[in-house]
Amino acid sequence: MSRLRLSIILPLLLGFLCSVAVAQQTDTFFQQNCTSCHTIGGGRLTGPDLKDATKRKERAWLEKFIQAPKAVIDSGDPYALQLQQESRGIVMPAVPGVTPQMAKALVDLIEAESALPKSRFAGAAISDRPFTPANVALGMEILRGERKLSQGGAACISCHTIGTLRGMGGGRLGPDLTLVWERLGGRKAIGAWLTNPLTPTMQAVYRNHRLQNEEIFPLLAVFDEAARTSLPADSGAQVNFFLAGFAGLCGALGLMGWIWRGRFTNVRRNLVRKSRGVE
Ligand code: HEC
Ligand code: HEC
Repeated sequence: MSRLRLSIILPLLLGFLCSVAVAQQTDTFFQQNCTSCHTIGGGRLTGPDLKDATKRKERAWLEKFIQAPKAVIDSGDPYALQLQQESRGIVMPAVPGVTPQMAKALVDLIEAESALPKSRFAGAAISDRPFTPANVALGMEILRGERKLSQGGAACISCHTIGTLRGMGGGRLGPDLTLVWERLGGRKAIGAWLTNPLTPTMQAVYRNHRLQNEEIFPLLAVFDEAARTSLPADSGAQVNFFLAGFAGLCGALGLMGWIWRGRFTNVRRNLVRKSRGVE
């Protein structure tokens, strides 16, 4: 009798625990992989607000899109093209780990959260207060690496340049950030984007060194300022960089020559001394 009961209860319990685990997993997955571009009920970021996405489009379509956004857009699907246009041409990246089961669970999550008065995913807390010149100055210090990031990430300038940088500009591995304000869609969108960057290089650099809100806010102030006041850093910066490098090389060679000007005589003097037994 009791064995019979157990044989009913145990699978039920296991089933329940599994569904809780899956829901938990989906929550975490969404938080880590989707919230840098989407809110549910908090307005558009880089991507559209996902609230009521299942009312706008069939679930099967959404599941397919989440697994392979670019393929759906490339197929010429009119709804996808319209979404892309509304997102200033940015294409949603294919997020690693989105299996068909995960895509289904994500659509379930979006549907369930859309039904709530306020979703947990209504948006990151980037302050609305106006940017001050002090914010811009702090942002430039962070960007130039003069102020270390609290979680120890690399300085932006090693890979990026921006119109507000004087002189040689910055690195060229990443895009020029002068017009990023417009490109990614302003304060809220870039704020969320930077909390958890998901593009390949940025993710690799900051996944384990998250930027903090106190760092993101001044950086946003810089992007806002740059978009309003400067032009993308031009090739002049590259010429400056080359000239400065060349001048630096000549200087360094000259300095070394001067510092070790006695290098031959010193060595010989010692050899001669030693050979005479003088210490
Ligand atoms: C780097 C930004 C970015 C990330 C990360 C991202 N998306 Fe998107 N998403 C977009 C953009 C932009 C669009 C609009 C279509 C386009 O331009 O590709 C979009 C569209 C969508 C749509 C269709 C929305 C609608 O109104 O029908 C869904 C659903 C969606 N994304 C879900 C997700 C899920 C789930 C994740 C996490 C696994 C995710 N996205 C991660 C940028 C992103
Ligand atoms: C190791 C090099 C590297 C460092 C350091 C780095 N970035 Fe990036 N960043 C990139 C690359 C490369 C891209 C292009 C997308 C990608 O591959 O991640 C990028 C993209 C971006 C974008 C999106 C630009 C666009 O137009 O889509 C922003 C915003 C950005 N980085 C901000 C920053 C900030 C702020 C810092 C400093 C806190 C920083 N990056 C540090 C390499 C870097």
